[in-house]
Amino acid sequence: MTKSWQFPADFTWGVATAAPQIEGAARAEGKGLSIWDHFAAQPGRTRNGGTPEIACDHYHRYPADFALMRQLGIRNYRFSIAWPRLFPLGDSAANTLGFGFYDRLIDSMLEYDLTPWCTLFHWDLPQALEDRGGWRSAEVLAGFEVYANAAVQAFGDRIKNWFTLNEIPAFIGHGYKLGRHAPGATEPPRVVNQAYHHAMVAHGLGVRAVRAHGGAGARVGLAHNPEIVVPCVENIRDIAAARTIFAQTNEHILFPMHAGHYPAAYLERCGPDAPVFTAQEMALIAQPTDFLGLNVYRGHFARAGVNGDAELLPLPAAFPRAEATWLHFVPQATYWVSRFCTELYAPPAIYISENGVGYFDAPDLPAELPAIHGWTQPAASPGGVLDLHRVQYLRSYLREVHRSIAEGLPVKGYFLWSFMDNFEWADGYAARFGIVYVDYPTQHRQPKLSAEWYRQVIRENRVL
Ligand code: NOJ
Repeated sequence: MTKSWQFPADFTWGVATAAPQIEGAARAEGKGLSIWDHFAAQPGRTRNGGTPEIACDHYHRYPADFALMRQLGIRNYRFSIAWPRLFPLGDSAANTLGFGFYDRLIDSMLEYDLTPWCTLFHWDLPQALEDRGGWRSAEVLAGFEVYANAAVQAFGDRIKNWFTLNEIPAFIGHGYKLGRHAPGATEPPRVVNQAYHHAMVAHGLGVRAVRAHGGAGARVGLAHNPEIVVPCVENIRDIAAARTIFAQTNEHILFPMHAGHYPAAYLERCGPDAPVFTAQEMALIAQPTDFLGLNVYRGHFARAGVNGDAELLPLPAAFPRAEATWLHFVPQATYWVSRFCTELYAPPAIYISENGVGYFDAPDLPAELPAIHGWTQPAASPGGVLDLHRVQYLRSYLREVHRSIAEGLPVKGYFLWSFMDNFEWADGYAARFGIVYVDYPTQHRQPKLSAEWYRQVIRENRVL
């Protein structure tokens, strides 16, 4: 009998984290402060005042963390480098101790047989650069170029897979427009649009750094988090409606990356607030990449309205969500984002660079035995973090990855967010995304039920 939900033999299974969310050691060995160190220290910015100061103390515990990954059968690890560890002030003054730390970290990964997938920028901009304008100013680009070149030169002998930036819409949109994320700014549209453009150029600089210094076999791509639009009903009209909206929400990111220019309609919509750019910058932005990383969590429903126009539907209050309430349960987002990206931009490969779910998990959940007729025996193996809800979420999303592959979309890998519970930005430590539970006071790690499930998924190379 053929086994269902089987993945291709060369499919990449991994887990993902980011430096400011797990490392801690925020001031160790010459590290400069990042905008998240600075922001989280201000009252009221994060839930319960959580800061990245200690986080999972991964800085001191990485060998044990890598050993645990191995035990869980994980072979691919997406992590990020903290820019302010290498260049504390975001200029060209390097911190050799920071380079030393990542040398040891990467060597240790390799000892544990983990293939590194490295993100150059996962939101921890050096605060000193923010003080000089941050992403609003082109000055950020000079600093990023120095950092990206140096990082790829130093570690490119061991790292072959690079993500340039993580989630431009999150760190620009939430950081500079909505003020919910560091640096907590609420800038007018002109400044926000320019900040988006600078981020796009930084992506281009990252690609160029990998091409120049990455050595043989180096590959690079963006980790993007488009707002995913799915058809309400999977018929031709609703699919077209969803795709129209999806394309428009990416007119400033995926479109220029692949076309080499901003769409005229975008520039018109921006009017006097349009970003200022040069032809050289557009050429940098549009350098070919090797893959597109997609972070997938939720989706929005669209349909063709009565007059045929695309319309976005409001979500009913009863729509299922995680305890991280922005995260509504739309597994088919995984399929539609891969399909629309392939149809619109034809990336050579797609990796689901993040997928996961946040709950307020606690160990030893009180056993609530279902009342099933005739079965009264209590569980002989209680305890642990029984995150059946996370397994259910992951299983559903993974089936949609499988569907993508079955339909010929170039989805080559999947990184579960996250290996362990960690600093969830403005949500502090309340929302837990890990498949490993972290008891922060003791830093004890305990794999949740989902970790055991994922171990078996990887081993069998199919959704279980
Ligand atoms: C996306 C971000 O890249 C990651 O840092 C964050 O923790 C997860 N989403 C969950 O919100």
